[in-house]
Amino acid sequence: MSVRTHWNPLQEFAIRLCLMKIVLLSRSRSIPSTRRMVEAAKARGHQVRVLNPLEVSVRLGRKKPGLVYRTKTIRVPDVVIPRIASSIASYGLAIVDHFQAHGAVVLNSAPAIGLSRNPARCLQRLASAGLEIPVTVISREVRDLQAMVDEVGGVPVLVKLMAGSERRGVMLCESRQSLEAALEAVLGLGHNIVMQEYVRKAQRDVRVFVVGGIALAAASRVPRAGRLSRTLSRNARIEPTELTEPLRLAAEAAAKLTELEVCAVDLLEVGGQKPPRVFEVNASPSLPEMEAATGVDLATAIIQRAEVMYRVLHPA
Ligand SMILES: Nc1ncnc2c1ncn2[C@@H]1O[C@H](COP(=O)(O)OP(=O)(O)OP(=O)(O)O)[C@@H](O)[C@H]1O
Ligand SMILES: [Mg+2]
Repeated sequence: MSVRTHWNPLQEFAIRLCLMKIVLLSRSRSIPSTRRMVEAAKARGHQVRVLNPLEVSVRLGRKKPGLVYRTKTIRVPDVVIPRIASSIASYGLAIVDHFQAHGAVVLNSAPAIGLSRNPARCLQRLASAGLEIPVTVISREVRDLQAMVDEVGGVPVLVKLMAGSERRGVMLCESRQSLEAALEAVLGLGHNIVMQEYVRKAQRDVRVFVVGGIALAAASRVPRAGRLSRTLSRNARIEPTELTEPLRLAAEAAAKLTELEVCAVDLLEVGGQKPPRVFEVNASPSLPEMEAATGVDLATAIIQRAEVMYRVLHPA
């Protein structure tokens, strides 16, 4: 597998001289993405531990940061790589913050992960900076449904469950009736309404992996017949794709705006000269399938980025 690095061999040598203590915050060592990063860190000579964030507790109000894992006090490591599942986001992010506040290099930071876990706010930030996204209406109530539907280009529309909660989901509403039913369900759950233009002319759904602000690999996701979802967990096929300039520019801009060191940016290509539309930024993207499809060693790229960040913080 190849890794595109942006430093010369001499810099690479200097960086490799620093051996770091790395903590992977992940619920299990056996999660394939976690396993890949453990392998990559070990291969570069670092010490690596996997800690379940739910078993880390914090003691506040002391001179030294009190961190306890299960029953043992632990030290703040050099680097923390969080892989925090959405279901434990609020606790997990407090732990990430604590490590960062006491000197660890983190990729990604808690605020950045928090933003990406609230896709509506994330899209707001991208759109405010001028990035192309599918037209999206965020609202707390339905005053004028027709106006909302017109705003996003008419049916079919997507209704997304993404109120910053831990539950996610996308509904494709092809008629006014199905839309009304979906909105009733969303409001009944106490969620905000996120109605989005269904990009019909989408030619490809592409995921671009970005590390340290640099787009490293792209793959397109082809859904199973009859399925909207193109994600791997739902048996989508993933195919290597050329990382074109418009994809690279949009993905790198999205990573910068969300302040994520490691992320996968999901985009819809719309053809012609038009820029792709970003519809999601993922802070803990899965590695193995993307690596297998593209041949790029993403796990090593993440560890190398950690080395650079650590070196910048500790130049000696
Ligand atoms: N605005 C859109 N227009 C057309 N297709 C879309 C749009 N937004 C999302 N999709 C398709 O629907 C799929 C799921 O959307 P999204 O990624 O936003 O939701 P999710 O909750 O993260 O679900 P998943 O776990 O399937 O990724 C995407 O992979 C994409 O192919
Ligand atoms: Mg998604």
